Amino acid sequence: MTSRKHDVANAVEPAKKSSISPADPCTIVIFGASGDLSRRKLVPALYGLAAQNCLARRFAIIGFARTPMTDEAFQQSAVDSVKKFADASTANEGQCKEFAHALAYVAGEYHHPEAFEKLKSRLEELDRAHKLNGNRLFYLATPPEVYPLIIEQLHKAGLAKHPNGKSWVRIVIEKPYGRDLASAQKLNQIVVKSFDEPQVYRIDHYLGKDTVQNLLVLRFGNGIFEPLWNRNYVDHVQITAAETLGVEQRAAFYETAGATRDMIQSHVLQLTSLVAMEPPAAFDATAVRNEKIKILQSIRPFTEESIKSDIVRGQYGPGSTPGNTSLLTGYRKEPGVKPNSTTETYVAAKVQIDNWRWAGVPFYVRTGKRLPNRVTEIAIQFRRAPHLVFRGQNLSTNTLALNIQPDEGISISFHAKLPGQEMKLKTVTMDFSYQKEFGGGERSAYATLINDCMRGDATLFDRADGVEAAWALVNPILESFEAHKPRFPNYAAGTWGPHEADKLLERDDRHWRKP
Ligand code: BG6
Repeated sequence: MTSRKHDVANAVEPAKKSSISPADPCTIVIFGASGDLSRRKLVPALYGLAAQNCLARRFAIIGFARTPMTDEAFQQSAVDSVKKFADASTANEGQCKEFAHALAYVAGEYHHPEAFEKLKSRLEELDRAHKLNGNRLFYLATPPEVYPLIIEQLHKAGLAKHPNGKSWVRIVIEKPYGRDLASAQKLNQIVVKSFDEPQVYRIDHYLGKDTVQNLLVLRFGNGIFEPLWNRNYVDHVQITAAETLGVEQRAAFYETAGATRDMIQSHVLQLTSLVAMEPPAAFDATAVRNEKIKILQSIRPFTEESIKSDIVRGQYGPGSTPGNTSLLTGYRKEPGVKPNSTTETYVAAKVQIDNWRWAGVPFYVRTGKRLPNRVTEIAIQFRRAPHLVFRGQNLSTNTLALNIQPDEGISISFHAKLPGQEMKLKTVTMDFSYQKEFGGGERSAYATLINDCMRGDATLFDRADGVEAAWALVNPILESFEAHKPRFPNYAAGTWGPHEADKLLERDDRHWRKP
């Protein structure tokens, strides 16, 4: 098993990435293989791994879905998705054809035992033909309603346990992992009936982003930041996950989810945990996840009162984005959305972490669709200098901004003297850009995480108690949203969300950064 330490070292020197020894031979089964996630993300990520020699020489991929399809049709659809969605720097006609040869397809209903028997014999046949040692990775990329069916059928078919003492079986479960605390707990119970916890990889693709992992490197791989990373020096933290896209064709899912379930419970709380956690004893799954969960447990639980004062929800109405004056449809007129929908497409919250490091340092988080820029950013806002010796200068505070996407990098702002006779100061920034330092190319978060799973490294995946702790935090918010109907829409597409979100900070004498 390769440790994460090794992977992080390679993240700094990307040229070495392909020199990682390939994972064990195995079969990867994608449930929901005819769906969007598989087409856009999983198949291109697997191709990327094959192209970088991170998959073992011997591997097989089985697509499983309800849509009837031949092996050849699945192979062709994989070639098409690689061409359309894979990182252009890895696209290679010959390699792509070779990759497609390793693909097979099984059509079946998720509740039909016969379909899983068919899957089992296909797995055994491929195992024998390619000497895959019985190693299997099951990836659940279906709508979440069918997760319990698949898990049960895998168990009944005897596929949840290792076929022999030397092989491994792992299951990757996509988000959303439940839709509230009770359903997440129920899903965990179903999962552990068939799989042991170390076999289970609950995925949040944000953790596969290099820039998110780099947050840990910045904090724990350098001596200069960590001493400042606490209530003595930090005034507050802002986390923004803004999207320009609207709901697109995903109304069926989004109408039942909303921004709180879709983004806050998962990605935003993951980022919060990584910013706030204590240094882990080691960079391994147990130590990192133990520290992350302590943060979730230290976040002050939301009450009816604090939900009213510290959380703002919004839904976009019609509007336009800067630089494009054509009218964008309001959420309620998007295809598949109810005309009187109360689903929130924006959430801002003031999160308080009650521990020694962060007491009194608010974390302001916000996420929304149809905002002016696509940007995910973490800003550490430092306290003002204790005494201003440069009289008459209105100095802003120092900010360390971690740009998770799309202009991946880190910048720190500070003050410098303007050239000239007078003592005039100006805020300047020092920037580190991933693009400039390491070159371009889209790094696939999914490839990183699938690779980790094949190596048995669960550091960047969620544990059962982790997802439950996150749901426990958002549960009261969901209940309150359900009980109190909002006045929507309350922000125009292409703006930074409802005015109340600005007031959330203004009342504390602070402002959102303009990312
Ligand atoms: C997904 C959400 O998990 O993350 C989407 O379901 C959202 O609604 C997406 O658009 C954002 O991911 P990324 O990587 O594009 O920031």
